[in-house]
Amino acid sequence: MRIAVPVETDLTETRVAATPETVKKLIGLGAEVVVAAGAGRHSGIPDAEFEAAGAKVVPAAETVAGADVVLSVRRLDPATLSTANRGAAVLSIMDPYGNDAALAAYAAAGLSAFAMELMPRITRAQVMDVLSSQANLAGYRAVIEAASEYGRAFPMMMTAAGTVPAAKAFIMGVGVAGLQAIATARRLGAIVTATDVRPATKEQVESLGAKFLAVEDEEFQQAQTAGGYAKEMSKEYQAKQAALTASHIAKQDIVITTALIPGRPAPKLITAEMVQSMRPGSVIVDLAVERGGNCELAVPGQVVTTENGVKIVGHLNIPGRLAATSSSLYARNLLAFLDTLISKESKSFAPNWDDELVKATLLTRDGAVVHPNFQPKA
Ligand code: NAI
Repeated sequence: MRIAVPVETDLTETRVAATPETVKKLIGLGAEVVVAAGAGRHSGIPDAEFEAAGAKVVPAAETVAGADVVLSVRRLDPATLSTANRGAAVLSIMDPYGNDAALAAYAAAGLSAFAMELMPRITRAQVMDVLSSQANLAGYRAVIEAASEYGRAFPMMMTAAGTVPAAKAFIMGVGVAGLQAIATARRLGAIVTATDVRPATKEQVESLGAKFLAVEDEEFQQAQTAGGYAKEMSKEYQAKQAALTASHIAKQDIVITTALIPGRPAPKLITAEMVQSMRPGSVIVDLAVERGGNCELAVPGQVVTTENGVKIVGHLNIPGRLAATSSSLYARNLLAFLDTLISKESKSFAPNWDDELVKATLLTRDGAVVHPNFQPKA
């Protein structure tokens, strides 16, 4: 069984899908591991470390030849997989929504494509949950980005030259990223408030020592789906929410937004008017920018400074800005899933196609798109 770790098709991707630690374990499972030269460069992993772990390092163009399993961070260009074995499995963050052509190409190539982000959020699969491992780091990094753009200190400091006040940070959306942002901002000494539409988050916010702020009406009590996600809120609720947060945002130094609704554009929570109400030097970090943004004025991939001196950070791929840590957790997520797909007896790739984790993540197999949510339209 040959496992390949090619160079990412998206050359701006800094993460890598395997580390020396996971390579060693994959070899322990009976695999031969081939890594593209330079694949770990941006994650601080030189080729020599992959080699020392037992991988074969080869020129990028030769990596997937004869592979049974291909590991990557993002969806690879199917053309780069043409030399893999017929029926080879590909495990990546596939970004399948709205990308029907890419799925069709994977199917046509006979590949078994697994979308890691569709992993069910059940106890058994926590160790394979790439959304959580990466969102947690994004939440942390968002605060670090905010601190570096902010021209003042976060903690209150009493010095001989006088007292420096603590920064006020407001976290909007308290899922995995938001919770880590609260914890990180608190550790840096900020005074933290947070909001979400799911009632379960109130206790979580308070247990981290932050103050909760939300319109707690009847709709709020019903806002959580059985799967633990947010619903899209009514226009009326959104208006009440905006009225409540508008006066609060005006008094904040740092706002970090992480609000998402599965399968929908990100809710717009910060209007241009709200940005105008903030003091010069304040910083907004919009973690939802790749899904349309929570802040009306955020620009994907840019840090913009408004006329009134507010900086709005719209970095893409925030986990990729701490690639070494993100790669190490992502690679472990992949290893944990792959471990369930490999037969310990035959030491070959032999998934149980009826396993719920396989069914939830498998997009294509045997020439067809097999996932019920992504069936080609008639
Ligand atoms: P997400 O990335 O889908 O959304 C981020 C946050 O935005 C959510 O908390 C959501 O309620 C919030 N949001 C949506 N619309 C909003 C609005 N208009 N205003 C303010 N906030 C808004 O969420 P994530 O991080 O994927 O977590 C979703 C749920 O899954 C959480 O309950 C989390 O605890 C749970 N979870 C469960 C795991 C498990 O294995 N059991 C693992 C990871 C997360």
